[in-house]
Amino acid sequence: MTVKRVGIVGSGIMGSGIAEVAAKSGHEVVLRSRRQETADSMVAGLEKSLAKQVEKGKLADEERQATVGRVTVTSDLGELRECDLVIESIVEDLSAKKHLFNELDRICAEHTILATNTSTLPVIELAMDTGRPQRVCGIHFFNPAPVMSLVEIVRPLTADDDTIAEARAFAEACGKTPVEVKDQAGFVVNALLFPYLNNAVRLLEQGVASKEDIDTAMKGGCGFPMGPLALLDLVGLDTSLAILEALYEEFKEPNYSPVPLLRRMVSAELLGRKSGRGFYDYHR
Ligand SMILES: NC(=O)c1ccc[n+]([C@@H]2O[C@H](COP(=O)([O-])OP(=O)(O)OC[C@H]3O[C@@H](n4cnc5c(N)ncnc54)[C@H](O)[C@@H]3O)[C@@H](O)[C@H]2O)c1
Repeated sequence: MTVKRVGIVGSGIMGSGIAEVAAKSGHEVVLRSRRQETADSMVAGLEKSLAKQVEKGKLADEERQATVGRVTVTSDLGELRECDLVIESIVEDLSAKKHLFNELDRICAEHTILATNTSTLPVIELAMDTGRPQRVCGIHFFNPAPVMSLVEIVRPLTADDDTIAEARAFAEACGKTPVEVKDQAGFVVNALLFPYLNNAVRLLEQGVASKEDIDTAMKGGCGFPMGPLALLDLVGLDTSLAILEALYEEFKEPNYSPVPLLRRMVSAELLGRKSGRGFYDYHR
């Protein structure tokens, strides 16, 4: 089966990015946010992003119009009924996601694939909360979704081959490069990336170098496009903390245990770009 109509649940950083990717590549997109105002502001954000691409000569104006025309927004989960694929991209919290999967399972057509964009949580737990565990998988995009080329296709023990093949074909239709990964916390990228990010916060906490110098060191010394603290601000410190907690829960590895400074910053609502301040200040 080819995925034509895609539902996206969650209107944060990733939900908006995935909506843009899916609509730009010709899919009909139904975007669901709990509040209509947030859904509307996502469309405004999408229009702004596409307009910028037209300005830069990266997108034709007709393409921009067609892309916007393929997106509908709703606050009603029921409108996802006819989707071939629904991608959940809400807060990184297992009980919130389980609750949502249970609702989606009741609402969506039998053929609908229910996918999660989780960074670390066990996909099997979500699959088993539905009556269609064979049609559940992970489709993990990277941030910013319109820019990053990778998608991890996560195969829980229950997924059937058709589901994985359709998820892979969807990622390819979005112009992405899929890799198939086992349903294990962090999959490939975050299992390798997060000990590094956590240790960067540890170095800052220990006063080994300033935040600017830590970032400069990793850009200049390893050729990374951005430093670890700037990357944590981009990902969101709350999401990063949830990712580390899930990794630590799974492996009990000290390098995954979140550094206290990260916890304190989340408690202080210094969440990074999304709250205007994290390691850096984005108000200026
Ligand atoms: N930020 C990243 O770099 C990144 C990258 C890849 C995957 N992810 C994953 O994507 C998902 C979303 O992350 P994000 O960065 O977009 O987060 P975000 O904080 O920007 O957005 C989370 C969204 O979830 C909504 N939400 C919160 N609780 C909810 C509930 N109970 N029911 C429905 N909606 C609820 C919020 O209103 C918000 O719109 C997470 O699973 C995260 O692990 C994040």
